[in-house]
Amino acid sequence: MGIARNILLAGSRSAWLREQAGSYAFVRRAVSRFMPGESLDEAVDAAKTLKVRGLGAILTHLGENVGEVAEAVGVTRHYLEVLDRADAERIGSEISVKLTHLGLDLGEDLAVANLEQLAEKADAVGSRTWVDMEDSSYVDRTLAVFTRVQKRHRRLGICLQAYLYRTEKDLESLIPLGCGVRIVKGAYKEPPSVAWPRKSDVDASFLKLAQRLLEPESLGQGAVGVFGTHDQVLIRKINAHAAKQGLSKNVFEYALLYGIRPEMQYRLAEDGYRVRTLISYGAYWFPWYMRRLAERPANVGFVLRSILGR
Ligand code: FDA
Repeated sequence: MGIARNILLAGSRSAWLREQAGSYAFVRRAVSRFMPGESLDEAVDAAKTLKVRGLGAILTHLGENVGEVAEAVGVTRHYLEVLDRADAERIGSEISVKLTHLGLDLGEDLAVANLEQLAEKADAVGSRTWVDMEDSSYVDRTLAVFTRVQKRHRRLGICLQAYLYRTEKDLESLIPLGCGVRIVKGAYKEPPSVAWPRKSDVDASFLKLAQRLLEPESLGQGAVGVFGTHDQVLIRKINAHAAKQGLSKNVFEYALLYGIRPEMQYRLAEDGYRVRTLISYGAYWFPWYMRRLAERPANVGFVLRSILGR
């Protein structure tokens, strides 16, 4: 793992840096590349613009590791409003939530109760709630909460990270549930005892997991594969594999982040693939933004250029 990536991921956990960063206009300018704004209105406007180009959206209110029950309840209420708003505005947006934002650090039952409300509302408005995957210390608890709620809400979806050795086994336990599974490479700083350190191994793992989700047995059980990547080579391989299996383009989906390779997102949609853009918004953007920088340390160049106003 690169030194720059390590430094950026370590920085993402610093409360001091988080407080400092928000007060600098140049940092906020740089962040705007990856999020349309801090408010739900701005996220909804961005979703409307994407819809015109044939792309769906997934909305995420930034935040994690809340320490008060009232805060977790407030976050849940906010997401209920988001689902209602997406329904009223007919933008068809889904939501993606972090369980520590819904109170997982305060207890599994609280996270279950909050997630249950979101899954219920999503079912009622014909949408879907996604559960993000956080660092490896949360995987067991995330899967436990997810499976408790998914029993009653089949459409609930979950993210799995290709960089973890355990993921192949986790996927096997999820396929019979017939749920949505979003595969991503993984964004956290993990030790080699739990995650592949080499990018080539992570890429190979991603492809293997995607192919497993596209097998007739997985599709037959109702599992829906969503591939969360901007990696063109990987996307080409998944498309070629699906075509070779004679699969229709609408049995799986791509999900990409707002502001990253937008032209590729439009092209995929124009080529007939189902594509959703994940739009993040909210004031708590610092740790999330540092993870975006760590994915591509060359992004730091954008920050430096925005300091210089270029
Ligand atoms: P990779 O990092 O190899 O990038 C491929 C190419 O994409 C790069 O060469 C570059 O051109 C472009 N690119 C990628 N990231 C970029 C960036 N930040 N800035 C500019 N260009 C960039 N992770 C996690 O641990 N838990 C989760 O729940 C989620 N959820 C999630 C949802 C969705 C919809 C997406 C797209 C991603 C996530 N992630 C995530 C993040 C994921 O783990 C991963 O860190 C990023 O998607 C980057 O990896 P890629 O697959 O794009 O490949």
